[in-house]
Amino acid sequence: MNITEILPGIHYVGVNDRTTTRFEALWSLPFGVSYNAYLVVGDKIALIDTVEASYGSLLEANIREIIGERKIDYLVVNHMEPDHSSSIVALRRLYPGLQIVGNAKTLQMIGGFYGITEGLLEVREGETLDLGGLSLSFHLIPMVHWPETMVSWCPERRTVFSGDAFGTFGALDGGITDSQVETEHFWDEMRRYYACIVGKYGVPVQKALQKVRTLPVETICPTHGPVWQQQIDRVIDTYDRLSRYEGEKGVVVAYASMYGNTEQMAERIARELADQGVHPIRVYNLSYADPSIVLRDIFRFDTLLVGSPTYNGGLFPPVAELLERLAARCIPARRFGFFGSFCWAGAAVRQMGEFAQKMKWEPLCDPVEMKQGFSANMYEACRNLAARVAGKPAQEE
Ligand code: FEO
Repeated sequence: MNITEILPGIHYVGVNDRTTTRFEALWSLPFGVSYNAYLVVGDKIALIDTVEASYGSLLEANIREIIGERKIDYLVVNHMEPDHSSSIVALRRLYPGLQIVGNAKTLQMIGGFYGITEGLLEVREGETLDLGGLSLSFHLIPMVHWPETMVSWCPERRTVFSGDAFGTFGALDGGITDSQVETEHFWDEMRRYYACIVGKYGVPVQKALQKVRTLPVETICPTHGPVWQQQIDRVIDTYDRLSRYEGEKGVVVAYASMYGNTEQMAERIARELADQGVHPIRVYNLSYADPSIVLRDIFRFDTLLVGSPTYNGGLFPPVAELLERLAARCIPARRFGFFGSFCWAGAAVRQMGEFAQKMKWEPLCDPVEMKQGFSANMYEACRNLAARVAGKPAQEE
């Protein structure tokens, strides 16, 4: 077996990117990211997805190592986002006879992005491509993560090429499959990837999961992160929970503070939470925290406490930005509490209340609002907010 062969006739030809610092020019990549592409070699040869354009020559080398001077017959495009599609033009140049396989929306986008209008093969839901010895069928999973997204299924190998679904941030350290790489950090990277990239699309992800569950899957080949074989149940369960927006027990305290007064409230509330047995607690200063990690944990845990000073008659900007990101992801429910401060006219707390209304989140209790500096006068209010999080009655001094 070639070192990139995952199963007989199925090869990994993707690449690692350890230099890009921001995925989609937004999200940090502390462990890098992989752009996964796969070769399916029957009597005919299909390449499933490509890689980000600057890695196109590595993709070519990976392909040539496996098939030498043989030609690729089909390029199956499961997903058009340019981290997977931007080597299509180079591939077409290398293999002019290559037929590009996609659904109607994919083929429209190929024209729009790359000006390619010939040598296209349109497939519909459930249609099959016979490669001789191996075959692929195509199943649409729109909005996971773009409208054209589909998965390809190889029944002879019980393998699904799943596009962004089941993907994670994090480059592949030597191994390709989950039995070859250390998977521990990939679970957090999966949550972070989901929250940042796919988090808005919970309902379409649920529909995709229903489709995947009808297939007897033994191998999942996503476009990012490890190939899953040993831990498929955990992968599906993680995506299922995330796309149902179901939080585990735990609290995120996300605040920002201009001069440290709101910060003292946050610290006091966190201390009170710990004192009342709440666990785990994650505290983030939004002016400095990595937004992707904050989002990851808000997706992971069931309780969110947000704190903001009043600034220019509204929310402090890093807090406003977080709330905007949460609204964009349509999270249907969180146990929610909020607190804030002002100097001469309060607005932040009011606006967080309006946010809760817009999200249809029922706050755990009245907000904790502070005028000017933090002092021992605030202890009781902070303790009461923590008590409500802990599910206890309000507590007196
Ligand atoms: Fe990795 Fe939606 O692209």
